[in-house]
Amino acid sequence: MNKLSVFFVLLLCITIIGCNRTSIEPQKKISKEISSEKIEDLLQQMTLKEKLTLIHASSSFTSGGIPRLNIPEISMSDGPHGVRYEHGRAWSRLENADDKATYLPTGITLASTWNKSLGLQYGRVLGSEAKERNKNIILGPGINIIRSPLNGRNFEYLSEDPYLTAQMAIGYVNGVQENGVAACAKHFVANNQETNRSNVDALVSKRALHEIYLPAFKTVVQDANVWSIMGSYNKVNGQFATHHEYLVNSILKNDWGFDGVLISDWASVKDTKEALLYGTDIEMGTELVKSFNNPDYDGFYLADPAEKMIESGEVPESVVDDKVRRILKLMMRSTVLTDYGKGERNTEEHQKTALQVAQEGIILLKNEQILPIKSAEKKTIAVIGHNAIRKFASRGGSSQVNALYEVSALEGIQKIAGDKYEIVFSEGYEPYFDENNFRKDNVQTAAQTKVNDVKVAASKKSNQKLVKDAVAIAKKADYVIFVGGWIHGFEGYPWGEGTFDSEARDKVNLKLTFGQEELIQELTKVNKNVISVLYGGSQVEMNNWLPKVKAYIHAWYPGMEGGTALAQILFGEVNPSGKLPVTFANSHNDYPSHKIGEFPGNASVDYKEDIFVGYRYFATENINVPFSFGFGLSYTNFTFSNLKTSKDKTDIIVTCDITNSGKMAGYEVLQLYINQKNPSVKRPKIELKDFEKTWLEPNQTKTISFTLKEDAFKLFNEDLNKWTLENDDYTILIGNSSTFTPLKTTIKL
Ligand code: GLC
Repeated sequence: MNKLSVFFVLLLCITIIGCNRTSIEPQKKISKEISSEKIEDLLQQMTLKEKLTLIHASSSFTSGGIPRLNIPEISMSDGPHGVRYEHGRAWSRLENADDKATYLPTGITLASTWNKSLGLQYGRVLGSEAKERNKNIILGPGINIIRSPLNGRNFEYLSEDPYLTAQMAIGYVNGVQENGVAACAKHFVANNQETNRSNVDALVSKRALHEIYLPAFKTVVQDANVWSIMGSYNKVNGQFATHHEYLVNSILKNDWGFDGVLISDWASVKDTKEALLYGTDIEMGTELVKSFNNPDYDGFYLADPAEKMIESGEVPESVVDDKVRRILKLMMRSTVLTDYGKGERNTEEHQKTALQVAQEGIILLKNEQILPIKSAEKKTIAVIGHNAIRKFASRGGSSQVNALYEVSALEGIQKIAGDKYEIVFSEGYEPYFDENNFRKDNVQTAAQTKVNDVKVAASKKSNQKLVKDAVAIAKKADYVIFVGGWIHGFEGYPWGEGTFDSEARDKVNLKLTFGQEELIQELTKVNKNVISVLYGGSQVEMNNWLPKVKAYIHAWYPGMEGGTALAQILFGEVNPSGKLPVTFANSHNDYPSHKIGEFPGNASVDYKEDIFVGYRYFATENINVPFSFGFGLSYTNFTFSNLKTSKDKTDIIVTCDITNSGKMAGYEVLQLYINQKNPSVKRPKIELKDFEKTWLEPNQTKTISFTLKEDAFKLFNEDLNKWTLENDDYTILIGNSSTFTPLKTTIKL
């Protein structure tokens, strides 16, 4: 283009910009309050068609913009524990993209730290890396309640308890949004299984919704001002959650005052009129009416079909205006239209956060004086198990991450052992295809696995040789560290899904797969010092092997520095402080969602256990479990004393002392539960209402203080359809697990 024409083009650009009453300039400073007149002004300038481009996808992970008004697209990316592979505008991964990222420990590992400040650090890493990748929304945190241990996505979520989920999510959301990137709390609501997720109708009582399934969303809206929320695939009590008159319009937007954007899950919008009237603000991922390679975004429910409905007068345009206002507000408060500076990716600081979350989230559940491993002379340690060498980051579904690196358990152990110990390794078992691991509705998938995945072709037979080799080295070793548990899924899958810890799949049961149980039995026959380390988003059935091992560590999916943290705990460089965010019962059949409620149901799934989820059930029914909610061991001991309460207007102030009575410094998590003496309706025996993680040197004592608001004692009364405080005696219990609360006192309200 010659100089003259450049001049005219420039002149034309200046003219275009000049003639708009308001053209969006990226605001230099971070403006908290959003000028509503600017929003109104823009709205007035838009045609209906332009408004509709904003409320549905313009590519796989962007929603529409309006170039004429300098309004850019919004770009989004998974996932909850790391910025996902680059998709570009396509519906599959962009090959050879620059998308290496920090692979943080997954959600349930973060929750196991019970450390609110780590939630903030975690969110900061995620927000900064999303910004560096030019993403305006990160599609996390996943805050669905863990109702059954079989749900394939538990590894992405936080807890069975709404309060712990909420408290860990506040920091996460603040950390992400400090970077100017919108967090997107998901999946709203009662998406507690993967089986038939696109159509299943979750039948949930109002009380269970308000006491169990909604609180974490309410907290991130009201206490963390989350800028977006993702509607879920499933129905709730007969209506699709993504466009739900009661849940979205009445509760989320009216009662809670949510002023952000409700984004659908990918293809969770099922009806134009409902999406217009019942709260969907942006429709993403609808099954494209033509094909993935030739997307037809005009075919989306909130595109041409919506235009016809508005133009016919069936639905007023004001309905679309509300969506557009929310979208413009998100744009103005975020990096879409405000300059928050540059993000960072793959920095040492980010990797340090990944390490710290793993150090505090890995849980020591059993230790018969064998850990930490310390010995003067050179001992031989046999590391046995496929999971000792497996890498996990790239699988599990949409939460997959292209980790810059991932330290395996074996690498971590080898590194820390150096020449102080002789480390020998044997795989012991390898994943193979087993029909019993697939739900009947996944049989087609199972067959597909057989075809797709040559590595899975290894059968039980090949494992017999692996077992023999493993037993041979175990016989000669001083210690055996067995590393097993779950995997996300098999090679050959688009996401490496399978029927284990994976999106779109639920587990069939908690039985150890691939012959691991038999292997552990064989190892304990030839070596009395077996330490078991399990990876995975849930426990496994443990009654047959747990009594025979000297120690058990649950490592979840501990991220890119998981192997480093695990080794530091095994050898005593780090004192473990993780606590269970879920109950570990032995079998899925022990859980109320299976014993009383339905899982996974059929066309509908009835949450008949109501509010008695997790420890709320086991404690109330006095049922012993192998490891209870809130439990986790340390290498030192703590004692609790001096419980006192006082009133400050309507607040109850609770203080107590905690002492480190052991020889090693470390963290402890004080947990505060309440019990109501004579509730008007059945109420759980205990409910978690506060917690505090604190560091103590040996012989150090600290006084910890808790402030309980009135709300902490309320229950949701279905008849009155509101939260109520009942005059009654309430017991306050403090300890370091739901089944160890030595400090108790009763107050009258
Ligand atoms: C998936 C998931 C959701 C994810 C979205 C985009 O189906 O349910 O968590 O963010 O689609 O990948």
